[in-house]
Amino acid sequence: MKKLARNTVLCLQPVPQTIVSCRDKEGHNNALVVGFTANVSLDPVMVMVGIVPTRHSHHMVKETGGFVINLPKKSFRKEYDYLGSRSGRDEDKFTALNLQWTEASFVDAPILTDCPVSIECSVVESTRPGSHELFIGKVEAVHVDEEYLDDRGNILWDKMDLL
Ligand SMILES: Cc1cc2nc3c(=O)[nH]c(=O)nc-3n(C[C@H](O)[C@H](O)[C@H](O)COP(=O)(O)O)c2cc1C
Repeated sequence: MKKLARNTVLCLQPVPQTIVSCRDKEGHNNALVVGFTANVSLDPVMVMVGIVPTRHSHHMVKETGGFVINLPKKSFRKEYDYLGSRSGRDEDKFTALNLQWTEASFVDAPILTDCPVSIECSVVESTRPGSHELFIGKVEAVHVDEEYLDDRGNILWDKMDLL
C-alpha cells in the first residue's frame, strides 16, 4: 500500500552530482554544485541546469551563454563540497582550490580536467517557473577521460567512481 509523502521538496531522487563551470564577460572563471539537472531532448541533444538567480554563477551563464556540466569522482569530494558552499562573489574558487582546467572548445567556459566527464552546452533558451532559472543547453561536446570510453566511443559509466 502507498501513502502520501508529506515532504515533496526534491522528490525526484537520485539526481546526478554535478559541478557547473562558467565564465563572466571579463573572463573570470567560476563553478558551483548543481543538483537541478535533466535531459531535455535527444535530437538535438539538450540538457538543463537550474540556477538560482542569487548565485554568482547565474549572471555569468547569462552573459556568455554557455556552461560546462562536469561529473565529479568520489575523490573530488572536498572540492565538490567547497564549490557547493562558497560563492565566487567572495573569492576566486579556482585559485582557492587550485582547480585544474582547460578551455572548452565550443563555449566560453572552463572545463574541469579532474572530472572524468565534461559536457559543453550553449544556452538555447531559459525560463523561470519558480526558484531556479532553467537554462536549456544544446550539448556541443562531451569530453570523457579515455579510460572510460570503449572503442566505439560509448561511455563506460559503470567503470567510473562518480560521486
Ligand atoms: C548538493 C548541492 C546541490 C546544489 N544544487 C544547486 C542547484 O541546482 N542550483 C543552484 O543554483 N544552486 C545549487 N546549490 C548551491 C550552490 O552550489 C551554492 O550556493 C554555491 O555556493 C553557489 O556558488 P556561486 O555563488 O559561486 O555561483 C547546490 C549545493 C549543493 C551542496
